[in-house]
Amino acid sequence: MTKYIIRGGQPLYGEVEISGAKNAAVAIIPATLLVDGVCRIENVPQISDVTLILTILKDLGAEIRTVNRTTLDIDCSKVRKQHVAYDLARQIRASYYLVGSLLGRFGEAEVPLPGGCDLGTRPIDQHQKGFAAMGADVQVQNGYIMAKAKSGDLKGAHVYFDVVSVGATMNVMLTASLAKGMTVIENAAKEPHIVDLANFLNSMGANIMGAGTDVIKIRGVERLSGGSYSIIPDQIEAGTYMAAVSAAGGEIRVKNIIPKHLDCITAKLEEMGVEIIEDGDSLIVRRFGSLMKANVKTSPYPGFPTDMQPQIAAVLCLAKGTSILTEGVWDNRYRYADEFRRMGANILVDGKLAVIEGVERLTGAPVSACDLRAGAGMIIAGLAADGITEIDQVYHIERGYEEIVSKLIQLGANIHVETMPEDDWHVSAG
Ligand code: EPU
Repeated sequence: MTKYIIRGGQPLYGEVEISGAKNAAVAIIPATLLVDGVCRIENVPQISDVTLILTILKDLGAEIRTVNRTTLDIDCSKVRKQHVAYDLARQIRASYYLVGSLLGRFGEAEVPLPGGCDLGTRPIDQHQKGFAAMGADVQVQNGYIMAKAKSGDLKGAHVYFDVVSVGATMNVMLTASLAKGMTVIENAAKEPHIVDLANFLNSMGANIMGAGTDVIKIRGVERLSGGSYSIIPDQIEAGTYMAAVSAAGGEIRVKNIIPKHLDCITAKLEEMGVEIIEDGDSLIVRRFGSLMKANVKTSPYPGFPTDMQPQIAAVLCLAKGTSILTEGVWDNRYRYADEFRRMGANILVDGKLAVIEGVERLTGAPVSACDLRAGAGMIIAGLAADGITEIDQVYHIERGYEEIVSKLIQLGANIHVETMPEDDWHVSAG
């Protein structure tokens, strides 16, 4: 059992380099299944979700060569299997991209229903609707999504999504890239990682137009061939460090980012009294005065990202006045509220709303990282709190943040990792 131990109450100073985007990487890596040849992928984040998806790809028969710390060569030419093993794929949400990729490549896919963070119900009906519109028979059987082209080929189709879905938009883009004819996706998601996947596929020879708008058009091509591609920087990782310095105080430079992707987060932090200066591919983030309350509503891009909701909540816990947080994407993303309360936060949750009454100070406490972004929120609260915060279940955090402890140490945080032998843990957990 591994814990992060934080002695909080110290401002952050220095520079932090942002890694490649998790939610782009976990789609682009399965997308290499569609490519006939070697894909060189740069700026790959070293996080456990990426390790898992690479393991699944290897199990399918992909050849993967590490070029350097952040660059991989992936060759899926010899993959012959369409069946994904249960245990690995169950652990990760992004395994659903294997359905779109394998269906596009072989006209057939058998992939376990995905896992991932518990954020309430996570249906995949829009993915299924997209595959069916392109001519696939899609069924869920024995915990697997079974999809098969009904008449050999998949055909371009008009797909109108009932909800804006990142995963369904990406999955239809994947399958449609090699389908016959034109696919039109309406009410498409517009997140930066949607554009990144389209850019990756186009750089391998696909014909995708309109990614980043509500309507994406994909003209199917005969084949995709190898090439090089560099993954965009992680918007949420950058936002997390911006929130960390906003809560703890100090001044940091967040490097290797696309500032435009951070606009929704920058605007909210500025409203709270944080100073943010754009400087090329960096943002300088400063907070010395007091924080002011703000109301935040999460929504699909370019709205405030749901994946930054627990992190901004940690900052609001220390802001003067009463803030209202509205979760506009997931049913249940406030499981962290009980843990924040252990640290002295005044937070009341009712359905999709949370009312946060700012407090003068938080105090360190033992807490559990109940999911990836909740864990990031707890780190932020711990950095700002007086005393010691112990966070367990940090494997959730390591799914999506590369080297978070060393990056924070570089910013002057007092944080370290403690690993307890399994037996001691059972005794104390009892
Ligand atoms: N939805 C449906 N039907 C579907 C698909 C989605 O009703 O077929 C609903 C969901 O229940 C939700 C909304 O649509 O209410 C949006 O879900 P979406 O499909 O966009 O989410 P996702 O693809 O499962 C990705 C990220 C999440 C992030 C969301 C929203 C990956 C692997 N995951 O999930 O990231 O919260 O988009 O931006 O890309 C995280 O990184 O911490 C994380 C949870």
